[in-house]
Amino acid sequence: MSQNELQFFLEIATLAAQAGGAVLKSYVGNLRDIQEKGRSGDLVTEADKASEAEILAVLERHVPEHRILTEESGELGDTNSSYLWAIDPLDGTTNFAHQYPFFSVSIGLLIEGVPQVGVIYDPFHDELFQAAKGLGATCNHRLISVSKTDSLAKSLLVTGFAYDRRETPDNNYAEFAYLTHLTQGVRRSGAASIDLAHTACGRLDGYWERGLSPWDMAAGIVLVEEAGGKVTAYDSSLFEMRSGRILATNGYLHEPLSQALMKTPPLSSWKNS
Ligand code: IPD
Ligand code: CA
Ligand code: CA
Repeated sequence: MSQNELQFFLEIATLAAQAGGAVLKSYVGNLRDIQEKGRSGDLVTEADKASEAEILAVLERHVPEHRILTEESGELGDTNSSYLWAIDPLDGTTNFAHQYPFFSVSIGLLIEGVPQVGVIYDPFHDELFQAAKGLGATCNHRLISVSKTDSLAKSLLVTGFAYDRRETPDNNYAEFAYLTHLTQGVRRSGAASIDLAHTACGRLDGYWERGLSPWDMAAGIVLVEEAGGKVTAYDSSLFEMRSGRILATNGYLHEPLSQALMKTPPLSSWKNS
């Protein structure tokens, strides 16, 4: 893939993210239709759907031959294409429904299964994060890089909890407690794409989460890697999109965080002493 082609796809992803972001902004303070998607707490709003429609219109205009995977419409387009756009038209729906200002549009492009272009647009703060393989990562057109924090004791981390958290013992509560104990803090922003973007620009030192979908991670993976960070599975082995599990850090903290995740004690072993 030539740099010119990647640049071209980056521009399309940016147009689409900004189109979706403008729609989201128009619904701020103005949202009527909020529904549950089946699982308790998993919401969809009229803003998710309207943002997705705008994004799809942009892709249909520029790359009608590509394959698309979106949160609200599922799989679209040519299943034989080696280009797959993974799209979350509103990441942080729960925040959005409560008017808590952490949400974004996340648009990633996988080429031959590898995330190579990523744009995350946070319309409330007007922050545009862009990255493409080999071209670096930017926020509002300025180059960004991961932090240099090299010990868990000095780090600020972020994580999240999937919608199946009440149904599975593998719900990340024990990891959250253990890492809160070992670090300066663990945040829960409620938008996986923003967690990755903020790790890429050094506001946060590392991020882990389970139960994610490709549209939550694809764009952010490119951002973290292009900003000099590292993305793997929890145990530091090769990242697999299908697993839904991600460990993304500034690189320096990768091994310590991976090891902490692998040896997290069960919540029942905690004592107040
Ligand atoms: C969710 C957010 C949240 C994460 C969940 C995601 P949505 O996406 O990214 O931070 O913890 O696992 O599903 O539903 O707001 O698009
Ligand atoms: Ca999401
Ligand atoms: Ca979403």
